[in-house]
Amino acid sequence: MSENAGGQGAGGCCGVSGCCTPSERALDPATTVAQAKADSGCACVTAARGDAERALPVVVIGAGPVGLAAAAHLTERGIDFVVLEAGRQVAASVARWGHVRLFSPWRYNVDAAARRLLEAAGWTAPDPDWLPTGAELISGYLAPLAELYGERVRLGAKVAAISRLGYDRVRTAGREDAPFALRLSTGEEILARAVIDASGTYFTPNVLGANGLPAHGEAEASRFIDHALPDVLGADRERYAGRHTLVVGAGHSAATTLLALARLDDTTITWAIRAGSASRTYGGGAADALPARGALGTRLRAHVASGRIRLLTGFFTHRLRRTAEGIEVISRDPSGHERSLVVDRIVSATGYRPDHTIAGELRLDLDPVLGSTRRLAPLIDPNHHSCGTVPPHGVDELAHPEPGYYAVGVKSYGRAPTFLLATGYEQVRSVVAALAGDWEAARQVRLELPETGVCSSSLAEAQERRLGLATGVGGGLLSTPLPLATVSASTEGGCCG
Ligand SMILES: Cc1cc2nc3c(=O)[nH]c(=O)nc-3n(C[C@H](O)[C@H](O)[C@H](O)COP(=O)(O)OP(=O)(O)OC[C@H]3O[C@@H](n4cnc5c(N)ncnc54)[C@H](O)[C@@H]3O)c2cc1C
Ligand SMILES: NC(=O)c1ccc[n+]([C@@H]2O[C@H](COP(=O)([O-])OP(=O)(O)OC[C@H]3O[C@@H](n4cnc5c(N)ncnc54)[C@H](OP(=O)(O)O)[C@@H]3O)[C@@H](O)[C@H]2O)c1
Repeated sequence: MSENAGGQGAGGCCGVSGCCTPSERALDPATTVAQAKADSGCACVTAARGDAERALPVVVIGAGPVGLAAAAHLTERGIDFVVLEAGRQVAASVARWGHVRLFSPWRYNVDAAARRLLEAAGWTAPDPDWLPTGAELISGYLAPLAELYGERVRLGAKVAAISRLGYDRVRTAGREDAPFALRLSTGEEILARAVIDASGTYFTPNVLGANGLPAHGEAEASRFIDHALPDVLGADRERYAGRHTLVVGAGHSAATTLLALARLDDTTITWAIRAGSASRTYGGGAADALPARGALGTRLRAHVASGRIRLLTGFFTHRLRRTAEGIEVISRDPSGHERSLVVDRIVSATGYRPDHTIAGELRLDLDPVLGSTRRLAPLIDPNHHSCGTVPPHGVDELAHPEPGYYAVGVKSYGRAPTFLLATGYEQVRSVVAALAGDWEAARQVRLELPETGVCSSSLAEAQERRLGLATGVGGGLLSTPLPLATVSASTEGGCCG
């Protein structure tokens, strides 16, 4: 039980019932005890935390763009931290798609706190209107940023599990005061006062099996399958030149790979989607409300119309089988009808899912569809939003029942493909402000973006022309501009001090 004396037994003070007893619960089921107490200005929130715990670092999991931005905000707030990165280099996930050009220009890809730190160290920001590749994002921004943190970024440090010292998921009394205990894959354990989980989703792609379970034989066929986004025109060219490739998926990754494959003269290309038509991927062409989708889709549609790309609609991957000619891919639709084709390689561009298993001993409140927090889900739902219409959000939308644990960045969106770096940077600014106890700043959530251009293909297309690349891969499916919006909440005083 926490030691503060300000609570009032089972009453409804501090926004909780059973205040300062082991059974305390937030009166609003959508919020956490810590949140409810902080909302009501309860003094016991800070009083309950011991000096020893405050001396522990905040652990940031993942040295991708959002994890490194979190570290910048922690630096500015004077909060001790360590960044644990599984890869042998910073931004190991971005490095996997280093050959792909982003659809948002530099001005939206650099976090504000990171920029301040870098500029103080003599860094010059790249052309704000330029669209970098993933590799340029690392060399021009993320690598120099990580260098500023020195040994506080630990490479090759893979977090295997997170819990609280002396507490499994069931124990409650005193839980909030217990430090986090993170176990690395080497067995080493690290204590933390809070955890910012920016570990992304890139290493947990969705499967080929149409119902979300692996297709029969998918694991055995793994050496014939690449996940999004192979470097078809560069390092991986040999695997594709002169071959028949099946691309499965209906998103931007599938479109990117298909357009790249179409540039290799001697390839045979088949594209399989679950939907009955590719109209969602094509968008509405010139009449599309989303210009990027229209531009990319127009090129794709032309390749399908000319026969360069063979489109299979209503394709539900069920089984993969090795044959003397290659890999047989068998579709079985919900009525039981089967059809198959034999290919040399498969690109599985079926999107990503978050891995919450490392946080299995923590108390998470996950949306049953997306795997984000429940409060965030309606704001990012791809059935209703593109990246351009996701409103800014911060600590309140990201909080789990487990106080002090926040999944941020693309992982926070779960299966929704509507994430933008700019929103991730605002997430970590807000979360770090809350960790510093600055709830006013934490709740002044805003995105300073103009009305146009943040994920617009017109920029990508213009740059392609400038570069003479004409790759056809610069256009963005997600192209509605992000609106400038401000979300804030006020904190009002209460009992318990
Ligand atoms: C091809 C592509 C293009 C994109 N283009 C844009 C764009 O133009 N504009 C935009 O705003 N967004 C874009 N996005 C979306 C998004 O911004 C990126 O996915 C971005 O990399 C997300 O950053 P992150 O820091 O959240 O996660 P990541 O970049 O995925 O970083 C996660 C890090 O955590 C590490 N990690 C994973 N597990 C562990 C563990 N257990 N322990 C320790 N470390 C771990 C990984 O190695 C990795 O370095 C794009 C995404 C893709 C895939
Ligand atoms: N900047 C760039 O150039 C660039 C390039 C690539 C990706 N990206 C970004 O990266 C993120 C992820 O994009 P993504 O295309 O990889 O993922 P995505 O947008 O989630 O698209 C994957 C799609 O595949 C389909 N799918 C899922 N499982 C399937 C299965 N088992 N069989 C067949 N189809 C399946 C789904 O469509 P249905 O439900 O309709 O079947 C789903 O929408 C996005 O934010 C995107 O913008 C950016």
